[in-house]
Amino acid sequence: MNNNRERETSSYLKILKADGEKFLKLMRQHARGKSILDPTRKVLREENHLLFPLKNDSPVLPLFLQKLEKAMLCQVVKRENVFADRPQFRTLKEAMEQVFPVPYMESLPRSYDIIGSIIIIEFDRIENIAPRDREWFKQEVTKFLIQKHGKVETVYEKAGKVEGTYRLRNLNLLLGKDASETLYKENGCFFKLDVKKTYFNPRLNHERKRIASLPYKRNELIVDLFAGVGPFSIQIAKNHEVTIHAFDINPVAHDYLKQNIQLNSLKGTVIPHHLNVKELILRKSSLGTALYHKIDRILMNLPEKSLEFMDVACFLIKKEGIIHDYQICERPHSVQEAIENLKIALVRNGCSLKKILNSRIVKHYSPKADLIAIDASIKSTIQDG
Ligand SMILES: C[S@@+](CC[C@H](N)C(=O)[O-])C[C@H]1O[C@@H](n2cnc3c(N)ncnc32)[C@H](O)[C@@H]1O
Repeated sequence: MNNNRERETSSYLKILKADGEKFLKLMRQHARGKSILDPTRKVLREENHLLFPLKNDSPVLPLFLQKLEKAMLCQVVKRENVFADRPQFRTLKEAMEQVFPVPYMESLPRSYDIIGSIIIIEFDRIENIAPRDREWFKQEVTKFLIQKHGKVETVYEKAGKVEGTYRLRNLNLLLGKDASETLYKENGCFFKLDVKKTYFNPRLNHERKRIASLPYKRNELIVDLFAGVGPFSIQIAKNHEVTIHAFDINPVAHDYLKQNIQLNSLKGTVIPHHLNVKELILRKSSLGTALYHKIDRILMNLPEKSLEFMDVACFLIKKEGIIHDYQICERPHSVQEAIENLKIALVRNGCSLKKILNSRIVKHYSPKADLIAIDASIKSTIQDG
């Protein structure tokens, strides 16, 4: 650390400790997202006062101070700088303002995913940066991310779309070790997975929480047709005494699913199957025969193709049951379109829609399309015997 830099003084905003929360709230409201605080210096404490380090050149500071004076006792004072070990930036944009020229700020990724010790980022707005500067730009962003998120050891860049039967995408290593296996915690459950060899989307955490928080009958029999490493099945079984048959065609996902069942202490039972679920409806499938018209609830988290598997769902569902269907549909009528698609697919396969229990946009999938979740109560119209 540079001692001269340490000994220099700068401006701090001195307020009573008791006003700390109120100050932060006012700052968020009035500074309109532009930080007035210097993230490279520490907040100081003096008896019953807090001293917040001010940015000298913040354009919103004078007006904010006027408003603050009306709300609480405050004073701008000079103190010796105490620098933070790690800058306390709130956002990537805030951190990068000090590194990049203004036009480059528009090229920053809007978000990134953290899965255990791995960050996955997409540079989808980089076309305005000169090709010779792109690698430097990516490295600067990546270095910051590693510094900000202490437990992160690897940063991958998305290098293509999610594709193929196993729903995987290519990832390029940007920084750290090329180690794609990680342990991730979501909604109180642990998941071991490999981000290159298995599908996993941390942005579905709220959807999984929603599904796991629904009411379930005791001993319900559930099928998770596209279980992956098990995030839906395991979160449901963590909270409910149910039995879930969890299928996946990807042998690596199936292997992690088995490990994840062991990693979590579950109220219910998850039975893993490595199978193409289309095989369940073949005459020779003894498992298919055993589950035929026995299932209370079916999860269909394969949004691009779930409708193609409605034959399997209608084969398995009881006389009346529930399905959780996911589809990708175009705006502006994405939800209505998904419901219409579902109705048609059900009728084609010997079922009918009894009631829509819930329908919602889970997230924007692309500039034109949404990921839709539909919870539907359905009836089988096929007569047994
Ligand atoms: C979109 S991922 C969802 C995984 C999991 N539900 C989750 O939330 O992470 C779909 C999964 O379905 C599996 N899959 C695709 N076709 C299948 C099939 N015919 N039978 C069984 N699994 C299949 C893929 O391997 C993939 O793991």
